[in-house]
Amino acid sequence: MNALATELPPSGGDTDEPLFSRIADDLRQQGYSIQPLALPPQLAEALATEVQTLNAASFERAGIGRSQSHVKNRFVRNDDICWIDGSSEAGADWLNWMQALQTYLNRRLFLGLFSFESHYAYYRAGHFYKRHYDAFRGQANRILTVVAYLNHGWQPDDGGELVVYRDDDDKEGIKVVPAMGSLVVFLSEEFPHEVLPAQRDRYSIAGWYRLNSSTNGQIDPPS
Ligand code: OGA
Ligand code: MN
Repeated sequence: MNALATELPPSGGDTDEPLFSRIADDLRQQGYSIQPLALPPQLAEALATEVQTLNAASFERAGIGRSQSHVKNRFVRNDDICWIDGSSEAGADWLNWMQALQTYLNRRLFLGLFSFESHYAYYRAGHFYKRHYDAFRGQANRILTVVAYLNHGWQPDDGGELVVYRDDDDKEGIKVVPAMGSLVVFLSEEFPHEVLPAQRDRYSIAGWYRLNSSTNGQIDPPS
């Protein structure tokens, strides 16, 4: 490897094209896309290392919507989260990669994605996130959900699957194993989903693309 090659970013533009294209095709045809081994390996490693070495003080208890009730929150979800602000190298590389996907999807699908926010999520053994939507129809804030998984050696009986339901009546859903490098993308208003309890520590990144919903001079910023 020459000096120039080592300076290339972990995700090089052209190499992402086939993956981004598959995601765009899936979104157009079915509204969701499940892509195993999607993250550039170096990026996945850097993110996994970062999330596992973040100290406890970096995490906060996840909340739901504007609910202030701690008790209610804990019944729905009990993961800990840490927002990714791009101040670390791994975080900045992740945000750049998500920016590249945003640009690609806007060109291909005219989604008008405007901003992106994301956090690490840490589920300890037994933790879960019950069936929910990430956005509500008409509120037009979160358009597209992205979830990335950062767990090496996930075994079938480790549990912790993401279950994506096709609609409100779907009882069975599609189970996604939270294996290293897998990426799931879906329309935030269309797909209820849940995180089943895991038997071991489970790390993911959840992110959302938003529209520019600024109105009356009021900025609606990400996060
Ligand atoms: C969420 C979410 C799924 C996961 O944070 O809204 O649904 O697998 N996360 O971590
Ligand atoms: Mn969700």
